[in-house]
Parts: sequence; structure tokens; C-alpha cells
Amino acid sequence: MKHELKQDIQKVIYSPRHIAGMVKKVGAEISRDYAGKCPLLVVVLKGSVVFAADLMRSLTIDCEVDFMIVSSYVGTQSVGQIQVVQDLRADIAGREVIIVEDIIDSGVTLFSLKKLLEERGSSSVKICTLLDKPSGRKADIKADYAGGKVGDEFIVGYGLDYNEKYRNLPFVGVLKESVYSHK
Ligand code: IMP
Ligand code: MG
Repeated sequence: MKHELKQDIQKVIYSPRHIAGMVKKVGAEISRDYAGKCPLLVVVLKGSVVFAADLMRSLTIDCEVDFMIVSSYVGTQSVGQIQVVQDLRADIAGREVIIVEDIIDSGVTLFSLKKLLEERGSSSVKICTLLDKPSGRKADIKADYAGGKVGDEFIVGYGLDYNEKYRNLPFVGVLKESVYSHK
């Protein structure tokens, strides 16, 4: 029998319509706050691509886009340090930067990334996330723009993955437990 991605989802948390509403709200806030300016959207790959693609089209102001891949060290002594796997091409000195994230959980990666971009001389670094998972927070970091909240559960879809899969689901949902236990 054909395997449909949707079969693996226990429940949908945010429907495509709901997500579109959140993107519109955040896009309007950014367009208002950056009126007359041209922020650089720093898209943190890979989870944020789907959100970023929709977000930039909801902005009514000028913006530029660049991409970055970062990973957190998992070693014992260097927790909180990030490794830049793929860096920006843009020079961010004097630029107004908005980091675009899919979800903030512990906030550890984002905390270090924000610091790094500030050290490069950007004039401001703000954080825009589609989803916020406040229960997971370990670092002192807050989103300047957030679409919605999620509880203490692992979610997939709309860019978010489980083992690199489910990013292409058009909604955000919780995976069935059987998906984890079969692996
Ligand atoms: P943090 O450093 O713990 O805030 O999270 C880093 C990254 O982990 C996020 O940007 C996501 O890409 C990923 N992540 C955190 N929570 C989830 C989840 O519930 N589902 C899928 N990915 C997640
Ligand atoms: Mg991410």
C-alpha cells in the first residue's frame, strides 16, 4: 500500500490556513517596524526555509536574504558554542539583521548565533521565529517576532523535520509514537 506522510501524524497543531495567518501577522509587524529600511533576513537552514519563503513574500518593505548553516557542539565543555558550517555571503557590518528561525526550543544555538552576528558589527540583530517552545528554554533568549507557541512535544512539518523527513508537510503536527519506536 502507498505510504502517505499524513498517516504518520497523530494530530495537526497548525493548519496551512492557521500558519498563513501567523505569517501575515509577523510580516505586518516587521513591515511596520522596518518601514523605510532594508533588513537582511538571515535564514538558518534547513528548517526555516519554508517559513522564510512565505515570510519574505508577506513583507511590504525592501529586504535582502542570506543563508547560514550552524551546528551546536555536543561536546561536554563547549556546550553553547556553535560551529558555522556554512557562512553568510553578505557583509553585515552596519546592517539591520533579522534571524529567521523555524522554532526556538532551548535557544542555545540562537543565543550564540545572535552574539556572533552582533560581534560582526551589525547595527541590530532581531529574532523572528515561526514557533516558540518556551518549556524547552535553557538560554536567555527571546523572540522579537513569533507566530505561535507549541507545548512540550516534538513537532514536524512546514520545514521542521524528524530525521530529515516530514519537512514538506504543509501543516505543523505531532508525529505518531509508532514512527519513533520503529526506528
Ligand atoms: P534550540 O537550539 O534547542 O532552540 O533548537 C535548535 C533547532 O532544533 C531548531 O531551530 C529546530 O530546527 C530544531 N528543533 C527544536 N525543536 C524541534 C521540534 O519540535 N521539531 C523539529 N525540530 C525541532
Ligand atoms: Mg532551526
